[in-house]
Amino acid sequence: MRKVCIAGNWKMNMGPQEGAKFVKELAEAVKDASARVVVAPPFVTLSGVVAATKGTNIEVAAQNMSDHLKGAFTGEVSAEMLKEVGVKLVILGHSERRTLYQESDEFINAKVKLALEEGLEVILCVGETLDEREKGQLEAVLKHQVVEGLRGVTPQQMDSIIVAYEPVWAIGTGKTATPDDANQAHALIRGEVATLFGKSVAESLIIQYGGSVKPSNVKELMAMEHIDGALVGGASLTVEQFAPIVCYNN
Ligand code: PGA
Repeated sequence: MRKVCIAGNWKMNMGPQEGAKFVKELAEAVKDASARVVVAPPFVTLSGVVAATKGTNIEVAAQNMSDHLKGAFTGEVSAEMLKEVGVKLVILGHSERRTLYQESDEFINAKVKLALEEGLEVILCVGETLDEREKGQLEAVLKHQVVEGLRGVTPQQMDSIIVAYEPVWAIGTGKTATPDDANQAHALIRGEVATLFGKSVAESLIIQYGGSVKPSNVKELMAMEHIDGALVGGASLTVEQFAPIVCYNN
């Protein structure tokens, strides 16, 4: 059985004070959730959120990290620094990083391997643009991002990988992939992981769906065979919306 994981990607929202206050309220609202609960605040908010979530069922992720461990890399934050503040997971390859900051598959892969070596869990984001979908390139794009993103990762390390399928056209737009479309994309990803790492690794892989997930659509998405969680952006910013998503089956 795969344990559902619901993660909130705060993007560039909530400073240290607001973030700490928010997770205290959230912790109360999601304490009985059967899903794994993760929040991903901005770097400067991480340590306050880690402190505020002590003793709760909320885990803390970073939204990005450096491809280096230390040194002259102005503006970067290393895996070691993240671990020191108590971060357990890191989101890598989000489409905003891929498109706005020109992160390549190769660069993302370097970070994936470093995060795993450093003992962090990775949420690796993949997903097609509308143009790619309309041109019939869904399968090729997902395959490419999965193969390149996970290049050099061992089957044992796959225990520490979550894949998030986020169709770029559904992020922040209010458009959601239909549960069937999302499930089909998830099945493609699971199939590719089976080819790369074997059936049992693929069967236990958590694949989140991301893109305009909200309280009103979470249930039907989670009911699909290959959907094992959600990566939530906009709706993760209020307890009123995020708590019912996390507790969708309570
Ligand atoms: P959204 O963002 O829920 O606001 O569409 C999802 C994401 O980018 O992770």
